[in-house]
Amino acid sequence: MTAPTVFVLSGPNLGRLGTREPEVYGSDTLEDVHAAVQREARDLGLVADCRQTNHEGELIDWLHEAVDVGADVVLNPGAFTHYSYAVRDACAIVTTSGRSLVEVHLSNPAAREEFRHTSVVAGVATGTIAGFGLQSYLLALRALV
Ligand code: DQA
Repeated sequence: MTAPTVFVLSGPNLGRLGTREPEVYGSDTLEDVHAAVQREARDLGLVADCRQTNHEGELIDWLHEAVDVGADVVLNPGAFTHYSYAVRDACAIVTTSGRSLVEVHLSNPAAREEFRHTSVVAGVATGTIAGFGLQSYLLALRALV
């Protein structure tokens, strides 16, 4: 049997991890995150398809693609978390199709500025993992198996 594919998607500014506010997001780069995700996925019998975009439409296209290929999703929507109804609607397409979608955050948005306390994605996600740095992504993979 072929290993199930999981889309691991990161939104705007996450390509700058490593140098972006390291006191908040740590010193790991996105390449480090993706390498750890690939290792964990292999251990769990999954294939991780890791991508990052700064563009809302591209992220939405990838969420549609996840539905079309039958992949579960680990999603760090970045700041789209807090205001993008379009990303939320695309996440709802994933979860209403029967796929799982785990919302992840490196930081704990609930412990930060007030505008980060709202997630418009959370209500249509299967679940949310926040505040564990790179481990948030790995815990999300574990949640899917
Ligand atoms: C983030 C939290 C968001 O509030 C922020 O806009 C990000 C990263 C996180 O992973 O902690 O870009 O999603």
